[in-house]
Amino acid sequence: MRELALDDLPKHSPWPARILDPEGADDDAEYGGTGVSAYDEVYANLHGLLESNPETGFRELQRSANRYAEESPVPISRAEELYLVDVDEKQTLQDEALVASLAGTLDGGETVVSLGCGWGYELGVLAAAYPDCEFVGGDPAENGVALGRALFGDRERIRIEPFDFRDETWDLLEGVLAERDPDDVVVFTQGSLTALPSVRDIVTETLAGYADRVREGVHLEHVYELHPEETLLGLLRRGYTDLRDYNDDLLTSLRVAEGIEVSSATYDVVGGNPLHPLSEIRWE
Ligand SMILES: C[S@@+](CC[C@H](N)C(=O)[O-])C[C@H]1O[C@@H](n2cnc3c(N)ncnc32)[C@H](O)[C@@H]1O
Repeated sequence: MRELALDDLPKHSPWPARILDPEGADDDAEYGGTGVSAYDEVYANLHGLLESNPETGFRELQRSANRYAEESPVPISRAEELYLVDVDEKQTLQDEALVASLAGTLDGGETVVSLGCGWGYELGVLAAAYPDCEFVGGDPAENGVALGRALFGDRERIRIEPFDFRDETWDLLEGVLAERDPDDVVVFTQGSLTALPSVRDIVTETLAGYADRVREGVHLEHVYELHPEETLLGLLRRGYTDLRDYNDDLLTSLRVAEGIEVSSATYDVVGGNPLHPLSEIRWE
């Protein structure tokens, strides 16, 4: 892991130039889309890879996808410092942040409900780290659900179902709540609320409706409100969110939602894209 000066970021990332010249390339498809269909296509390709190599494990599949997408060294961030790392090391750092986000929360017996889990890579990592807990994930991308089931279908502690934040009721969560004590249910998201242009209604109406029936919420998400307005890095990060039309209201919405008490918000725990880092929010 080598330090990277912000001044040198453009040598390793196309984003500073795109943010500073949004006219240059304003077609989202050119950047790689962010809608469910774009994810579904990626998951279909990964499923094809698994079908041609059925012995591939979930970690190997993720690492193959990473190596296909990016060449080492790649830029990352941690706590507003930038670094260059090997593409495999980047995955290790992201896995460590994921496991650490639930370290103070899980002590055995809980069910973690991961909303927008993609094909469930995070469920595999968490199930390995927390062998006494169960993990239920949901995603609207059909190929993600199918791939997750192909990879984890024989594991008792992992289940993946269709799920969409935009639904009025969350059947996935209701199914878990029907069987579990509220004290044993933890809601989790990683990089999935980000995909929505605003999360205000989802948080203050749908999620808040379940708040008194779950113990805690943990989010590893891209949190616009934490980007400083007085640093160059913070301003570039704000520009990135604006350019991609990601939400800018997650933390604000959690703070005003009835029944939700935000207990901590930790900025930039890891940035696989240094202009779009994951922050950790916890609520009770
Ligand atoms: C960046 S991926 C993150 C996936 C996974 N949580 C991870 O960290 O690898 C964003 C995910 O959000 C999902 N997503 C997009 N819109 C959604 C919605 N309306 N409801 C639930 N999930 C959604 C996408 O299908 C995709 O799997």
